Amino acid sequence: MREELVTVRNLKKHFPLEKGFFDRLLVREHRFVKAVDNVSFSIMKGEVLGLVGESGSGKTTTGRLILGLLPATGGEVLYRGRSVISYSKKDMEELRERMQIIFQDPYASLSPRMSIGKAIGHPLAIHHLADAKTSKEICLSIMEKVGLSPAPFLYRKYPHQLSGGQRQRVVIARALVTNPDFVIADEPIAMADVSVRAMILELMMKLKREFDLTYLFITHDLATCKYICDRIAIMYLGKIVEIGPLKEVFSRPVHPYTETLLDAVPVPDPRFRRTHPMPKGEIPSAFNPPPGCNFHPRCYIAETRCRNLEPGLEKVGEDHYVSCMVRGSWGSRD
Ligand SMILES: Nc1ncnc2c1ncn2[C@@H]1O[C@H](COP(=O)(O)OP(=O)(O)O)[C@@H](O)[C@H]1O
Ligand SMILES: [Mg+2]
Repeated sequence: MREELVTVRNLKKHFPLEKGFFDRLLVREHRFVKAVDNVSFSIMKGEVLGLVGESGSGKTTTGRLILGLLPATGGEVLYRGRSVISYSKKDMEELRERMQIIFQDPYASLSPRMSIGKAIGHPLAIHHLADAKTSKEICLSIMEKVGLSPAPFLYRKYPHQLSGGQRQRVVIARALVTNPDFVIADEPIAMADVSVRAMILELMMKLKREFDLTYLFITHDLATCKYICDRIAIMYLGKIVEIGPLKEVFSRPVHPYTETLLDAVPVPDPRFRRTHPMPKGEIPSAFNPPPGCNFHPRCYIAETRCRNLEPGLEKVGEDHYVSCMVRGSWGSRD
């Protein structure tokens, strides 16, 4: 039995909605954006879990909650079975070294005034993990590992002097410098040119083997999951609607939302035709989600009960769970 490295239990983040001047006078009650609403999942040591959903579904907020970069409204995060809430300040500092994040936009996450070497060594400096000389040695070695070579030359450069692909490598190197075992990659290739996307994914998999890493791979694009994920969790308006092994979800999607996401994945077969209607309309606002199943206004199989009752995750196969009253209660569609 493999170890659960990170577990999320009933995690919630409700952002209070900023009120305008008149609203403040007229509307008494506070309103909330339910960015993450009762999310639970585990990530096994050594696996890559994909967290997939349209923009605004709560993926980044989930990642930030796991790392403790945001306080949760409810629920808890466990690291190696122990709730992070019980951590002392010192334990928390150590945990910050063990868990790292790679952000989507390498330009925005690198200071233009910090040299590449300084940026990569920054986490070592803030955590007081190495003196200047050792820090430089560690940085140069990591730079070579992520393909920033020749490292001594690039070490002195600034972000604007590098290509987009190189900047993403800098961000990856910086995430690995504290020797973490868990890395959240938040849309790491979304901003990259098509030509470097595959290279970055390949690099991530190589580093995973070398550093014995576990990833939470956040993406809005189900197609990229195919190359890197072991399991995938589909997120919609702050909730997980389907979670299961990659192969199982790709070959036997159960939630109608997953079906439509899968239809958008390109297949190299000209005879292939979209088989499920695209969801109607846009993703509704997380501040005013529809009642019942929050996907029902866009769902092509919705029934009356879907408007009133909220589905929970149900087992539909080996390690495969779905939150859909119409499909889930069948147990299996075969
Ligand atoms: N700091 C914040 N304050 C208020 N609302 C926020 C904040 N961060 C995110 N949100 C809202 O929470 C929802 C989920 O956002 P996010 O987690 O960034 O989604 P994703 O990463 O899937 O695009 C969105 O509706 C977004 O507008
Ligand atoms: Mg995001």
